[in-house]
Amino acid sequence: MRENFPWWRSGILYQIYPRSFQDSNGDGVGDLRGIIARLSYLRELGVDALWLSPIFPSPMEDFGYDISDYTGVDPLFGTLADFDALVAAAHDLGLKVILDLVPNHTSDQHPWFIESRSSKDNPKRDWYIWRDGRGEGAPPNNWLSEFGGSSWEFDERTGQYYYHAFLRTQPDLNWRNPDVRRAMHDVMRFWLRRGVDGFRVDVMWHLIKDDLLRDNPPNPDFAPGRQPYERLIPLYSTDRPEVHAVVAEMREVIDEFDDRVLIGEIYLPPEKLVAYYGRDLTGAHLPFNFALISTPWNAQAVAKLIDGYEAALPPAAWPNWVLGNHDRQRIASRVGHDQARVAAMLLLTLRGTPTLYYGDEIGMPQVKIPPDRVRDPWEKNLPGIGVGRDGCRTPMQWDSTPHGGFSAGEPWLPLDKNSARENVTAERQDATSMLSLYRALIDLRRTKPELALGAYRPVSVTNELLVFEREHQGQRLLVALNLGAASVATAIRLRGRVLLSTFMDRQAETVDGRLELRSAEGIVLEPLA
Ligand code: NOJ
Repeated sequence: MRENFPWWRSGILYQIYPRSFQDSNGDGVGDLRGIIARLSYLRELGVDALWLSPIFPSPMEDFGYDISDYTGVDPLFGTLADFDALVAAAHDLGLKVILDLVPNHTSDQHPWFIESRSSKDNPKRDWYIWRDGRGEGAPPNNWLSEFGGSSWEFDERTGQYYYHAFLRTQPDLNWRNPDVRRAMHDVMRFWLRRGVDGFRVDVMWHLIKDDLLRDNPPNPDFAPGRQPYERLIPLYSTDRPEVHAVVAEMREVIDEFDDRVLIGEIYLPPEKLVAYYGRDLTGAHLPFNFALISTPWNAQAVAKLIDGYEAALPPAAWPNWVLGNHDRQRIASRVGHDQARVAAMLLLTLRGTPTLYYGDEIGMPQVKIPPDRVRDPWEKNLPGIGVGRDGCRTPMQWDSTPHGGFSAGEPWLPLDKNSARENVTAERQDATSMLSLYRALIDLRRTKPELALGAYRPVSVTNELLVFEREHQGQRLLVALNLGAASVATAIRLRGRVLLSTFMDRQAETVDGRLELRSAEGIVLEPLA
């Protein structure tokens, strides 16, 4: 189905959190050799590309998002040779490999930062954001760290503060410095030359900060119980106009190579998000659209979101949709197991590249982590307010053995209590399991250009029933999703053939009249003339 489109348009992306996918050496942490051993599963699932969360040398304070060497592989995950073997094996199977690029900040153990903090006149001083305080004990401005507290850390040695949007062990690089840009472009080239098919760029909207470091304004909507970072509107610390030039330069590096993709992690409302496609689409190919992760799960809200996003897209920009990731609550727990099937159908029938998060395809839940097993530094900084991310990062459930087939040793995070029942092996044998549904949906998307490439047209939203159409070169498919608990019927009469129900029991049924849907049922219908 390539037609003239780049692979990432019709393709389906799959995010792997390497610590939790497959352990090959029994240390309880997933690794590259483990991923290689599971590539055939991804092939069988039918996805096109895997994106690996960071695998680089790191003190692991933020589990790899604190990098101390951009061009190596952390021994926990393996070696560069293992990485090369992974890329080769994936490519042999027709799978693309996307790496996580974390350009906003390094670890405080990165040699660049060690140099930078050593003295005010070190050549790397300006590679990070150093400022004098505003007076005795007062940081340069009021900016807050996403992980709690001030985002400024005082450094005794030189008597200045450095800026960190996340942990104090994750100092932000100064992207106004051309040497920083050049160094990171070389990092990109290093991996692109090794054969990676693109990058997911961490916190892209954070890269440039206000040059005057103006105070952020208070957030009038802040309510007790929300995380402290939300006290202020991050007006001057994120999403600055100059960021687009930085992204365009990254894109130029990507374009030095054939067929690579640039994806941006950006948490912004649609109208701001779409600016990251860049002027004349010279920015990110896919600024991640996370709206589905947080939208209330009802037909009106979801319809409004799709329409708003579609309307905001610049001409010729290609949309994308994400249902889960390593930072947010898993879909099966957010909307419940039944609606998670509807969500799967939505994700895989919408217009735009879908990104799946490992384990969602078998319905893995947000796992409850006992207090003594909490690993996430965010949760440790701000206990008890629900920011913990360990629950969506638990080991992949492969089979019914004690550690779920993930590891021979004690896993770094506990597995879900139901993993003996809900796992790949069990779900493979069940024709109506979540896994079977995902496989059927992916299959349908791969065989029907209407779904992979077609136009989107809203049809109706009544009560909890969302109906839309996809059209490609005169061929149409209708998608009807019941986001409610009551059964419903379409207001309009339809003539068509059911291609797939989320219950997986109506294939080939013919409809002539109003289409009836059970509680939490979704249907893809092929209209008949
Ligand atoms: C975004 C990543 O997705 C998250 O996991 C990480 O903690 C922050 N960036 C900081 O790097």
